[in-house]
Amino acid sequence: MLKVDGVDKSYRVGGMFVGSKRQVLHQVSFECARGECLGIIGESGSGKSTLGRLLLGIEKPDRGTITLEGKPVTDRRARAGAISAVFQNYRSSLNPYFTVEQALMEPMQALGMTRSEMKDKVGELLQLVGLPVSYSSKYAHEMSGGEAQRVCIARAISTAPSCILLDEAVSSLDVSVQAQVLELLKGLKERSSTSYIFITHDIQAAAYLCDRIMIFRDGRMEELLETSRLGSVQSSYAQKLLASSITI
Ligand SMILES: Nc1ncnc2c1ncn2[C@@H]1O[C@H](COP(=O)(O)OP(=O)(O)O)[C@@H](O)[C@H]1O
Ligand SMILES: [Mg+2]
Repeated sequence: MLKVDGVDKSYRVGGMFVGSKRQVLHQVSFECARGECLGIIGESGSGKSTLGRLLLGIEKPDRGTITLEGKPVTDRRARAGAISAVFQNYRSSLNPYFTVEQALMEPMQALGMTRSEMKDKVGELLQLVGLPVSYSSKYAHEMSGGEAQRVCIARAISTAPSCILLDEAVSSLDVSVQAQVLELLKGLKERSSTSYIFITHDIQAAAYLCDRIMIFRDGRMEELLETSRLGSVQSSYAQKLLASSITI
């Protein structure tokens, strides 16, 4: 399904012509099966979002390959509608001049759906993410953070992609809203064969949603294990995270 093989990525530091390169990702390899939810956990700065951008095909790896159903994600045509993303900053993810309906229709339009097909689909999508159909005429600033993020999720599932990447998608929501959105994601995931890549620094959220969890550290995959085996995780970083979340 999604296959990452031997990926390296570095960025230039100190300007275009001077300075050196800093390697952010080192030999990252893993697979995510159809319908699987894979969590990627790591500290801030460990390279999670960089990996996310490579998975989306926005940036290219220096070495290695990333394919979705056998096709490279950097191929624009191959990835159209096949992979989508939900980010932390739900407000800037939505065009402020678009109604919810326009925001939801945009990715479907790109796939060549007719207007009446899209109208029906908007109602269906809003229902799926637990928003009233009347929200189709609302603008981003007229919604709460949780509602705006639900719209982003509806947009991400609108093209029935084979993979959805969520980068800290619940991190900036209030704790009670986080729980509701996680529950929504869990329900959506159970109802489809879409794969989810759930990037977070929150081990509890990942444990709730994911089938497997990858511990990411300094641009390297430190450990990859079934969520049910999280109790026996070897990584001392993950052990610390677990210990601190249990006492909350
Ligand atoms: N476009 C970029 N140019 C230069 N350095 C970058 C760029 N994007 C990320 N980095 C660096 O790569 C490292 C990993 O960042 P990031 O992938 O955002 O980590 P995380 O999402 O885990 O917090 C950081 O040190 C960051 O400064
Ligand atoms: Mg990040």
